[in-house]
Amino acid sequence: MPSSPGCLLASPVALIEDKVFAIIDELIDSLPDPKQLTSEERRGIIARYTSVLEGNFIYWMTAAVIAAKAEESRPILLENLYEEVHDCHPLMLRKFAIAANAFPTDKDFLAVHDDLTKVRQFMGKLSPVKSVLTMGFFEGFIQKFMSYLAYLAAGQGSTELEYTDVHGVCDIEHTEGLFKALAAEIALTPPKPDADLFEGVTLLRTLIEQIVRPEAEPLAA
Ligand SMILES: [Fe+2]
Repeated sequence: MPSSPGCLLASPVALIEDKVFAIIDELIDSLPDPKQLTSEERRGIIARYTSVLEGNFIYWMTAAVIAAKAEESRPILLENLYEEVHDCHPLMLRKFAIAANAFPTDKDFLAVHDDLTKVRQFMGKLSPVKSVLTMGFFEGFIQKFMSYLAYLAAGQGSTELEYTDVHGVCDIEHTEGLFKALAAEIALTPPKPDADLFEGVTLLRTLIEQIVRPEAEPLAA
């Protein structure tokens, strides 16, 4: 069936989006059975997640704003940042971790240090397409991870679930917005055919695997 020019333009982003959601589903499916986890294992996952997200999410979204070149991207990314800052999401996450007795220790920070450094250095390259794609993956993962994270916190005896409640809902909209921004970035700066658009996604995926299983080898892509 012949495609319209619009379809031809839209399909690369749709394919990328499908691939991103397939990676997210694989990650979610590979999470350890929460019923089998010890209290220390539950605490560790929440603590390492907090050690990465609290100080880096706004930083990396800011990097994406700096990197983005398309006119349509800026308001989408800024809206996301506005909510993060206005509603003080880092405090929400800190409260979540403290209530679950999972405030990160030096060991938790160091367990993710190497993989965190790689994502930071990648974001420093300020690639418009790759940065926006990485944040789309991040938002999509966070949204699907929230019910698991809330279950771990409940297992720790916590009832402080504002962070997981808010992010299980608002990130659906944020993820959609980021893929609109991605489409705009790709249209403005079409990537070379051999470019590895998933460079940041792969690094972030490895970091997330390290959050979940600090001693394990990363799962094969
Ligand atoms: Fe947030």
